[in-house]
Amino acid sequence: MIKIALLGFGTVASGVPFLLEENASKIEQAVGGRLEIAKILVKDESEKQRLVEAGHDYHFVTDVAEIMTDQDIAIVVELMGRIEPAKTFISQALAAGKHVVSANKDLIAVHGKELLALADQHQVGFYYEAAVAGGIPILRTLANSLTADKVTRLLGVLNGTSNFMLTKMVDEGWSYEQALATAQELGYAESDPTNDVEGIDAAYKAAILSQFGFGMTVDFETVRHSGISTITPADVTMAQQLGYVIKLVGDVRETASGLSVEVAPTFLPKSHPLASVNGVMNAVFVESIGIGQSMFYGPGAGQKPTAVSVVADLVQLGRAITDGQVISAFNGFAQETHLAQPEDVTNSYYFALSIKDEAGQFFKLAQLFAKENISFQQVLQTEGDGETARVVIVTHEMSLVQLDRVRTQIATADQVTLLNHFKVLGV
Ligand code: HSE
Repeated sequence: MIKIALLGFGTVASGVPFLLEENASKIEQAVGGRLEIAKILVKDESEKQRLVEAGHDYHFVTDVAEIMTDQDIAIVVELMGRIEPAKTFISQALAAGKHVVSANKDLIAVHGKELLALADQHQVGFYYEAAVAGGIPILRTLANSLTADKVTRLLGVLNGTSNFMLTKMVDEGWSYEQALATAQELGYAESDPTNDVEGIDAAYKAAILSQFGFGMTVDFETVRHSGISTITPADVTMAQQLGYVIKLVGDVRETASGLSVEVAPTFLPKSHPLASVNGVMNAVFVESIGIGQSMFYGPGAGQKPTAVSVVADLVQLGRAITDGQVISAFNGFAQETHLAQPEDVTNSYYFALSIKDEAGQFFKLAQLFAKENISFQQVLQTEGDGETARVVIVTHEMSLVQLDRVRTQIATADQVTLLNHFKVLGV
């Protein structure tokens, strides 16, 4: 029997004992023994009391030392979220020679390097399949199943909350505010939804995907990210008319100079497989030399989906313990990190602009783009009130350097206002 401890007993954590019981025989066969929840850390006595009264028959503790000093506990499962005290507790567990399973993407994206080094130093495992796209087994797939393949690009719909909101904005014509209020009512978005809607949560996941797809540990600060809060109904309508769907997309790819890691609202062609990922669902689209294109789709959150990924980590660790094997690293792929130079990161872009509605203004606008050697793919004048006109431009591929320069040009030009700009994915 292998004893485990849970740190936290929230929604996902309570799904772990449920699965251990529901699939007991299958899990026991995979592990070669039983996984037993020996102790559960809760916040305080009143939480302990509440859980006991609700009928939970576990050994609840309020002092983490009772877990860290217990020599019989082999694996600690951290499901508290956020940085502290999770980071301290994980560090203590690793230093005490315990294997750790976590779903904490914020912590792993920002402090993963340090924690993995600690795990390595103490020859224990630190596994976190549930940290990216909850119920989709994408990390182990990249680390194990695609070992013999070379990944060139990962594109992901990685945040269920913003995808739910965008789906409502596209399919039902809801405003951003209406979609956010409903996401909060349904419990998808937090009362402070910043991480979800500003692309921060997806950026954590993109940083972790970089390790698994490309063996590169990127500093979270270098992940370019923007969110969905600036998308207007006019942009949504225009995307539809041009044959696109707007999604918040994580994009990790190789360029000539290094890795580009970005999360941004993106116009996806309606024919792209990611365009049909709707509601709270997540997906990761993998471009690789061997397989070509593959897509992994499923729920990115929720009690059982996330707990399935947590238990998968427990089973891997449990099997190695049963067999007396040295625990292998969750991701064995590592190479020197090189980040892409901005001139090597190219995309098409959608620009929505307001210009004065009179002869010659369009010519001036075209000159601003021509000066930066940016070529147009599609141009549309969508509406006018006699004074100003709304103009939409979709460009051919241009670099981040060109993007910066043309934005500066527009900002300093007379009678032209940049209303919005978004990345456009080619077919
Ligand atoms: N808040 C996340 C989402 C779920 O909306 O996808 C956990 O990562």
